[in-house]
Amino acid sequence: MIDLRSDTVTKPSDKMRAAMATAAVGDDVYGDDPTINRLQERASGIFEKEAALFVPSGTMGNQIAVKVHTDPGQEIVIEERGHILNYEVGASAILAGVTIRPVKSVDGSGILTWDEIAAVLSTDSIYDHTQTGLLCLENTHNLAGGRVMSSAHCAELCENAHAHDLPVHMDGARIFNAATALSESVADLTRHCDSVQFCLSKGLGAPVGSVLVGSHEFIKEARIWRKRLGGGMRQAGILAAAGMIALEESPARLHQDHENARALARGLAGIECIKIDVDKVATNIVIFDISATGKTSGEIVAALKDNGIFAIGFGNLIRMVTHLDISAEDIGSTISAMFSIVEN
Ligand SMILES: Cc1ncc(COP(=O)(O)O)c(C=O)c1O
Repeated sequence: MIDLRSDTVTKPSDKMRAAMATAAVGDDVYGDDPTINRLQERASGIFEKEAALFVPSGTMGNQIAVKVHTDPGQEIVIEERGHILNYEVGASAILAGVTIRPVKSVDGSGILTWDEIAAVLSTDSIYDHTQTGLLCLENTHNLAGGRVMSSAHCAELCENAHAHDLPVHMDGARIFNAATALSESVADLTRHCDSVQFCLSKGLGAPVGSVLVGSHEFIKEARIWRKRLGGGMRQAGILAAAGMIALEESPARLHQDHENARALARGLAGIECIKIDVDKVATNIVIFDISATGKTSGEIVAALKDNGIFAIGFGNLIRMVTHLDISAEDIGSTISAMFSIVEN
């Protein structure tokens, strides 16, 4: 089976399983889990932020950030294909009581310019306007095909947002992929963001978990919301032990996933009726257009499955994501299968 649906499907390595079996643990709700504490200290060190909090998922990390940064009745601004808007099942409306202002990135990159953001802001105290409470960014941008935002661009957006007293949250589920692609540190890529959520359980390969980083004050409040949401996980050091290995060892191998993604994109570009811009594949996500094949994405995904290959289709697009359980041979097999499915 070649599972290209997401980088969330990776299985923990033998080393992770061994570390989980022997992890020192304690009750993390009391702050007593030494392995979680070590992971949090390491994460805040790497991101050069004051504090960090281990959370069960990226969704919980993002939603805690939205809740802590905003007041009910405000709105958050996000690029229209952002994860927080499209794939967190309406959580911000329910938990934080905020509405969401989606903004189109006119160049299709998923990376908003300050002018695009400024056009929808409402930060003056005009009583009949919904007040903007938070700017949410995403790096890499999942639905835009893993596109990356440079540290300079992020700094410019944060500087402008802060000038309007607007905090900035970074959904950095795949921020280490961005760092690899740009040869910049995750600290630089998020230096001016007020909070960052990054996932251990995606390209980094841990079975479970994300980390929120930010100021002492932000993390103190976030800890309360984690408990309220049922994310106080007691002896979860067994999970953090795998997360620690992911954090220390996996960033150095992400370039392999990016090379595999580019090889996949190049192979797909060689199939006549598939539309893909190879130059835009910057990290581990490959999204391509199948509208000229005469088949639906559902039909192609089903045919791939018959060949033991798993991908995700939406509309005229198919998404394939490379990760540590995908080899160069798997990429070759996927291109061959796509070729015979589309050409027949
Ligand atoms: C960009 C982005 N943010 C957040 C998440 C949510 O992570 P989780 O599945 O751990 O809730 C995902 C998951 O795919 C994602 O792609």
